[in-house]
Amino acid sequence: MLTRTRWRVQEMPAGPGEARACWEAAARAGAVGAVTSWGAGIPGRAFLRIYWEVAPDAPAPPEGEDLEEENWTPYWRGVLEPVAVSARVWLVPAWANPPPEARGTVLWIDPGMAFGAGDHPTTRLCLRVVEAMAAGAGVPTPVLDVGTGTGVLALAAAALGAGRVDALDIDPFGFAACRRNARRNRLEGRVRPLLLSLDLVDGAYPLILANVVAGQLETLAGHLRRLLRPGGRLVVSGFQADEERRVVEALGLAVEERAVEDGWPALTLAKEAR
Ligand SMILES: C[S@@+](CC[C@H](N)C(=O)[O-])C[C@H]1O[C@@H](n2cnc3c(N)ncnc32)[C@H](O)[C@@H]1O
Repeated sequence: MLTRTRWRVQEMPAGPGEARACWEAAARAGAVGAVTSWGAGIPGRAFLRIYWEVAPDAPAPPEGEDLEEENWTPYWRGVLEPVAVSARVWLVPAWANPPPEARGTVLWIDPGMAFGAGDHPTTRLCLRVVEAMAAGAGVPTPVLDVGTGTGVLALAAAALGAGRVDALDIDPFGFAACRRNARRNRLEGRVRPLLLSLDLVDGAYPLILANVVAGQLETLAGHLRRLLRPGGRLVVSGFQADEERRVVEALGLAVEERAVEDGWPALTLAKEAR
């Protein structure tokens, strides 16, 4: 079921002002993604990693470090079960059948080497916020999903009504898993996987989802504020209750809603409308 991917990675020095031009030139030559050390929160070095997919029909330079996806599906088959996120949203392992009681939106997920099959409270908490939006005023569009992993939140946002979701990760295996899961759920027309660090993204999103660890949320805070449209909502999780204060301080936005499961909070924050 899993089509393994291979990646060739080229690393080059590039200051913050140079990275975008380097990435754009590489993209024109066929590169799939780019990650800067500062956008990915890697301290002490300034470099740009350019990702090329190694595939028969894709151009890749001869030099670079190779990364090969491993097949983790046999492991996942032993541990994952269908999960009821709520009464209306189910996450089902790609190889399983939904249980008879599954209602509403059913998403099939094969995690590959990525995080996000619904077995962690932070995923479920974020999904419930999106579902509540869908049941209320609707899921706004476009959505940015930062740290998409399997693409689970992006897929749910699209399935629940968002017209376009940009699903970003700095891990090529997250990108690959999201791409496969988007196709598997026939949402590839609306979910756009991005292998990019956030500093290389432009836009104004009315909804940003970011289930990433506390240190990354702190590193990304300025970009999350920059990319959030005035009046927009930022949904964050991925940190523990004792890290919450520093995350909220770094984000500098008003907390509108809070939910907690097993010591993992999820916050909905609002940016003032201008
Ligand atoms: C906890 S997982 C969340 C996966 C999925 N969104 C979910 O809710 O289950 C965090 C993801 O964030 C990604 N990540 C970590 N740091 C990041 C950064 N600086 N920019 C983008 N993605 C990042 C990781 O590679 C990982 O896939």
